[in-house]
Amino acid sequence: MNVDKGYVDAPVDSGLDLKAEIKKLKEEKNAVILAHYYTVGEIQDIADFIGDSLALARIAEKLDNDIIVMCGVHFMGETVKILCPEKKVLVPDLNAGCSLADSCPAPELKKFIEEHPGHTVVSYVNTSAAVKALTDIVVTSGNAMEVVNSLPEDEKIIFGPDRNLGNYINSQTGRSMILWDGACHVHEKFSLEKILELKKEHPEAKILVHPECPKPIRLVADKLGSTAVLLKWAEESPYDEFIVATESGILHEMRRRCPHKTFIPAPPDDAGCACNDCSFMKLNTLEKLYNTLKYELPEVTVDADIIDRARRPILRMLEIK
Ligand code: 13P
Ligand code: SF4
Repeated sequence: MNVDKGYVDAPVDSGLDLKAEIKKLKEEKNAVILAHYYTVGEIQDIADFIGDSLALARIAEKLDNDIIVMCGVHFMGETVKILCPEKKVLVPDLNAGCSLADSCPAPELKKFIEEHPGHTVVSYVNTSAAVKALTDIVVTSGNAMEVVNSLPEDEKIIFGPDRNLGNYINSQTGRSMILWDGACHVHEKFSLEKILELKKEHPEAKILVHPECPKPIRLVADKLGSTAVLLKWAEESPYDEFIVATESGILHEMRRRCPHKTFIPAPPDDAGCACNDCSFMKLNTLEKLYNTLKYELPEVTVDADIIDRARRPILRMLEIK
């Protein structure tokens, strides 16, 4: 089967009940579907597990299925492969990259580390396997603060690739980690001006912000945190209305969990664009998921040597939180 395009390029019969077929294939093949909160709603609805990147890594580690389908972006598939090297790990479309991970190529990070000897390298999970192999400890947005706080106060740290998350951790911990200058193209695009206009129209609304957003947006947050943290707060706090400054896919689970609450996507700086959509995450469709299960392609592969080196910093993170 041809996967030159990064996904199985085979026609799907339009008369098929895709959800039922996917369920059938999953059972036949002892496969499990993991989905990030940013994937399209119809995939979230049929996934066995949905979560943020920390939760998905934790779940993957404990699975005993033969096939794991990661409906997320490529680095998430790599993380699963690193944690479960003996399993077949599939991502419906390998073109699902990540602008943040791409902002930190491994050879450039290697040079940067050599220029700053004696530093512990802390990397956000949104990185390639090759970057993780150069890393001492991995963090996600769900545990970054705890992981950094677990290191001795005088430890010299390089943090990458997200400058916004790094800045936030520095401001909260009083550390002066050296930051890699990377960012996510979705979270950098929110417009403070438009968020404040929305807030004027909805004065009761609370502002939810992911730490990948730049400082001016973080400063107006009522709650700042990973996708899982924002969801939990939306669900458990007594408030009924929220302006959501993170990728739009999260609104699906927010509305599912809290059908009586109102969630308003924060506007990006260009009214004409759908910049609060992660175009990479949206490459995973129900049709591609069906073909992935049917043909067991495309598979995520990571060199054995990289797996060996990248596993240690991920496990070190999972031991802390
Ligand atoms: P979480 O770690 O909150 O799941 O976020 C991952 C991500 O890609 C954010 O853009
Ligand atoms: Fe990467 Fe940004 Fe998409 Fe998250 S939202 S996967 S950081 S490009």
